Amino acid sequence: PNEPPVVHYWIPFIGSLIELGIHPLEFMRKNREKYGDYYTFLMFGRRMSVCLGVEGNSLVFNAKQSYANAEDAYVHLTKPVFGEGVIYDVPNSILMEQKKMAKSGLSTENLKLYIPIIIDEVNLYLDENWTKDSDVVDIFKAVSEMIIMTASHCLIGPEIRAQLHTGVADLYHTLDASFTPIHFLFEWLPLPSYYSCEAAHKELFKIFSKIIETRKKDVDNKHEDMLDQFINYKFKNGDKLSDQKVANMSIAILMAGQHTSSATSAWTLLNLANNHKLLEETYKDMQDAMGKDLPYPQFDDLKKIPILECLVKETLRLRNPIIQILRKVTQPIAIPGTNYVIQKGSYLLSSPTVTQTDSKYFPDPEKYDPHRWDDFVSVETTNTDNDTPSKDNKASVVDEGDVDYGFGNINSKSAKSPYLPFGAGRHRCIGEQFAFVQIRTILYTMLKRFDFELDPKRGMPQPDYTSMVILPTAPASIKYIRRKN
Ligand code: HEM
Repeated sequence: PNEPPVVHYWIPFIGSLIELGIHPLEFMRKNREKYGDYYTFLMFGRRMSVCLGVEGNSLVFNAKQSYANAEDAYVHLTKPVFGEGVIYDVPNSILMEQKKMAKSGLSTENLKLYIPIIIDEVNLYLDENWTKDSDVVDIFKAVSEMIIMTASHCLIGPEIRAQLHTGVADLYHTLDASFTPIHFLFEWLPLPSYYSCEAAHKELFKIFSKIIETRKKDVDNKHEDMLDQFINYKFKNGDKLSDQKVANMSIAILMAGQHTSSATSAWTLLNLANNHKLLEETYKDMQDAMGKDLPYPQFDDLKKIPILECLVKETLRLRNPIIQILRKVTQPIAIPGTNYVIQKGSYLLSSPTVTQTDSKYFPDPEKYDPHRWDDFVSVETTNTDNDTPSKDNKASVVDEGDVDYGFGNINSKSAKSPYLPFGAGRHRCIGEQFAFVQIRTILYTMLKRFDFELDPKRGMPQPDYTSMVILPTAPASIKYIRRKN
């Protein structure tokens, strides 16, 4: 058995970093043509084993816990931001339990209650900030603020939302600044942002602990949010989460959805501004479903406007915010169907964006066309139950239990679907439904009040690949035009 082919590089040690940093997707595609779906490159002394295509995605997402794991790949990046004892700073079985707790704050009943909160927050933001009849603004910055306000208010509750004006939003931003590839690469480097991050985390904990304390005393009032789920969760032995862990879980959940949902909302609005016919069609579909005056939607109303779902799905296909999924290999992994073996100590790297932009599955893949999803909207999909840790005694390196719906079924949640913006397997996203509800409600509320055009001076921004989450290059200028009705 051999190692997958190693990408040729010019500068030893730095390896393929420069090319990867400039345009990672081009780098991955170009080398895929040369070497096939599996190859290795070196980056600051790390061996990165790239696994592409539906089989490569599946190998990484379904890798058995005892062969390759996410915590060793991500913990040094997430721990300073999320704090101790949560997500990747715990054994996998505890992460599974923590995801279960968080999921119970995202039930359909809760999502229904979140919609009016989202509408109010977006309107408040627009009333306070978009006061002119038309203006050019940075749309990524604007939606990021709306996402922080809506997610904090819905999931963590009105108490934390009330403090967002008093600097909590700045503390979030400081934490955010640590979430960069540079922190992934140089875990040994004492970067200044680590220290500001630590300080911001301590400050946030002080604010959260007061809120948690008040909530614990206020037993008569039930709050329908995630914070209550964390406070009241009881382990099998009767123990509850410490206040520190409640706070850290809350911060982790907010951070997981912050850049991903902001980028998705911003790219969707930019694509609408770039194609006015599509924007008009969307507005008309909203009116056809809801009536000319566009009353605010409730949960079931959103289903009557499938174009909103298609727009978000198409953004997640072409501008998937997370283009690199990582795992660290702890036992040699034989790649099925090849004679390659990936060494212990290497990192697995897959990129669902590569299949999502492959013409084999999506004709004319670079075209932003929400109508390619017309036959796939509102299919009620239930999350495959990934909460059960796998039986690790099996020899196979791939977890079983995920149903293969066939490569052609782009709506499937199997790890073998070419469309996996929310991942698959044990680490699959728990925030998908919330993100869809949040983003569609934000879009509806903004489109009801404003029309959009691209800034003629800047046009359509290119993706910025230097952050962990792929954002539009700043400033993501857009022109808003107030509707007169
Ligand atoms: C995991 C994408 C929004 C919470 C993931 C993963 C992806 C992803 C690709 C898998 C990572 C991996 O396998 O290494 C997205 C996208 C979002 C989004 C594209 C928005 C458009 C959210 C929101 C929340 C959230 C709103 C919380 C409310 C999580 C959590 C995990 C996760 C807790 C699990 C991490 C794990 O098990 O390792 N997400 N996410 N995400 N996401 Fe999301």
